[in-house]
Amino acid sequence: AEPFTYHNGQLHVEQVALTAIAAEFDTPCYVYSRAAIEQQWLAFDSALAGQPRLICFAVKANSNLAVLNLLARLGAGFDIVSVGELERVLAAGGNPQRIVFSGVGKREDELRRALEVGIRCFNVESAAELDQLAAVAARCGKIAPIALRVNPDVDAGTHPYIATGLAQSKFGIDIASAEQLYHHAAALPQLSVCGIDCHIGSQLMDLTPFIAALTRVLLLVDRLSAAGIALRHLDFGGGLGVCYTTEHPPTPAEYVAALQYQLRGRDLELMLEPGRAIVATAGALLTRVELLKSTPGHHFAVVDAAMNDLLRPALYHAVQDILPVTPRSGQPISYDIVGPVCESGDFLGKHRAFVLQAGDLLAILGSGAYGFSMSSNYNSRPRVAEVMVDGDQVHLIRRRETIADLFAHELLLP
Ligand code: LLP
Repeated sequence: AEPFTYHNGQLHVEQVALTAIAAEFDTPCYVYSRAAIEQQWLAFDSALAGQPRLICFAVKANSNLAVLNLLARLGAGFDIVSVGELERVLAAGGNPQRIVFSGVGKREDELRRALEVGIRCFNVESAAELDQLAAVAARCGKIAPIALRVNPDVDAGTHPYIATGLAQSKFGIDIASAEQLYHHAAALPQLSVCGIDCHIGSQLMDLTPFIAALTRVLLLVDRLSAAGIALRHLDFGGGLGVCYTTEHPPTPAEYVAALQYQLRGRDLELMLEPGRAIVATAGALLTRVELLKSTPGHHFAVVDAAMNDLLRPALYHAVQDILPVTPRSGQPISYDIVGPVCESGDFLGKHRAFVLQAGDLLAILGSGAYGFSMSSNYNSRPRVAEVMVDGDQVHLIRRRETIADLFAHELLLP
């Protein structure tokens, strides 16, 4: 079921009117649906039922403790990219044995902490990192479980900022060099070679690049196996797209079925790292129209949310649906929905037809992934509140930052 729907002319999330949330928690405010997150999680998990699997939610998509805790309770694993994300997962009750650690630049203290808590696997992205990890493991008296993240050189057909699988990308180890590096890794006593990893990009709309990448990865798996390096798992990363406006991405079930077809007859545990596909459509950014402004040729609705709260439109020209919380009748006007930040790139939507008045509430849909987690304090704007709706209940899961929070960590010169 869609989490955001109209009842009696009012936009609701589950059974709660967004007007009630704005009245209680003020705006701007991120609003999530617990049922929607759980439903998407189960879509992946049930698609993989009956086979060895580990679905590791990509924490960067939404790292709120309550969201992580909800997923941990469902048995989720987690894909982390920093010690900060590691500590969040542990604080949220995540099981270290279900954590994989990705990223091109892991610091020594980060490797050490991950070894200490005993994570499931390090996704190693370079020869230098492999040797660094072996050295840190030796110093800690631990054996590090590893997979090499290979770059299969396929075009994910997505926005260049979120495509990671092409040869020119900083990510992964080019697949031709990976075989030799596996042999090197297998000879290091501080490492235990467990698997192989690949992530080609985000917001993919088509199965074709996934299939091309998996074909290449499996060729390497077979060569390694013939050479005596038997991998136990294949981590295929994240990247499944979602519908922001009119897109038609494959469902988790279709995606998983395509992977399973290619993996048939092999004894590999399948790991996935979905982020967006689990949380994006479960969340909205609730914002209020401050004022309407017209210039020659343009109508602007200036709202209280801005690019610091939701960066995707500014950074990727992302287009997300924006709905009026209480639609008005009348003749629609085409507005640019902009924030108060001092940047021309500060827009949340362009050319959107609305009947609006100052004070109206708008909901920017598809904001559950890479929304709050990419937000900042730019223009000295406190980060907004986050709430989670569960049926007819509303829970505050992050209080709005105060003005005092803004400079609490700053120090004057003596
Ligand atoms: N695994 C790795 C190694 C990743 O780098 C990412 C995303 C994921 C998994 C999760 O991908 P997903 O399933 O969410 O597509 N800020 C951008 C997206 C950046 C994605 C970065 N890596 C956006 O708002 O579109």
